[in-house]
Amino acid sequence: MFSKRMKNLVPYIPGEQPQDQKYIKLNTNENPYPPTPRIDKFLQTFNTEKLRLYPDPTFSELRKTIAKKYGVKKDQIFIGNGSDEVLAFSFYAFFDKSRGTLMFPEFTYSFYPVYCDFLDINYQTIPLTSDFNINIKRFLNNTESCGIILPNPNAPTGILLPLKELTTLLNSYSDNRVVIVDEAYIDFGGDSAISLIDKYQNLLIIRTFSKSMSLAGIRIGFAIGDKALINALFIVKDSFNSYPANTLSLEIAKIAISDVKYFNSVIENIIKTREKLSATLKSIGWNVLPSKANFIFAEKPGIAGEKIYLTLKKKGILVRYFNKPGINNFIRITIGTESEINIFIKEIKACF
Ligand SMILES: Cc1ncc(COP(=O)(O)O)c(C=O)c1O
Repeated sequence: MFSKRMKNLVPYIPGEQPQDQKYIKLNTNENPYPPTPRIDKFLQTFNTEKLRLYPDPTFSELRKTIAKKYGVKKDQIFIGNGSDEVLAFSFYAFFDKSRGTLMFPEFTYSFYPVYCDFLDINYQTIPLTSDFNINIKRFLNNTESCGIILPNPNAPTGILLPLKELTTLLNSYSDNRVVIVDEAYIDFGGDSAISLIDKYQNLLIIRTFSKSMSLAGIRIGFAIGDKALINALFIVKDSFNSYPANTLSLEIAKIAISDVKYFNSVIENIIKTREKLSATLKSIGWNVLPSKANFIFAEKPGIAGEKIYLTLKKKGILVRYFNKPGINNFIRITIGTESEINIFIKEIKACF
């Protein structure tokens, strides 16, 4: 009944999404604040007649809006059904066994190896340094590599790679090997590499509306890069599904971009709460990696991550724990609202 291909798949395991409201959800890096109230207004007056038609397969309006916001051209933008889909299309478009081995950090977004297996791409993971930084030197001068993907800031560590180091990496890669920078979390305190796309035609930046824009539910992600890379993504998209982004999501994303003031206030709150949480945990003996994302990665020496995860779950708090040697003492805590994080801190102090 099943294809051999399907039987060999090892799928990505998403964080728990309990359908009752009984948990404080600090496990999937969603934004704890609602999206801009401008979206409520829009939905109340939306003309449902528009849903009769297929959406625009070229995403023209949203691409224009994104291009304006980031000071790039419309033909340097691609849109997909969440950045996960943009990532999958990019893996398909730029990497395969005949070109060599895709390189990414050892501890990183766990969808990358899943896409490699799905698309039959060889890959090599590069160990982090002892303080969990991405080890740029180990990526350089690797003649077997067909490209690189790395999140910046990295997940699940939250650590930012400075643009200077990224530039070193780009300088060592020739134009026909693509370097993908997954900027899912860049709005929480990092410098984007968007300014580099005209200089490096092999650089593709992938972004999402799921985190900083509080819109994980609409599934919109995008890529920014040279026109040739974007054209390749359209070819892949149109060989799979012409309409990956729906009419409502495309409109909602446009509105979210328009409300800069609201966006800035959300980011400011999250950064403030992140810094407070990090300082509090450090003050009670935790090791907290320096995060520029909307989550922190932290361990309490001597206590297994799984134990902390299970104890918190019993108390109604979900965090993310990765059962992988090297990081299995850590838990990843998404930055919630200030009151959610206060409850988290109270339980941590009471239990450990
Ligand atoms: C590093 C990274 N990239 C991409 C994604 C996917 O985001 P989405 O598909 O919601 O745009 C995530 C989600 O957690 C992530 O952590």
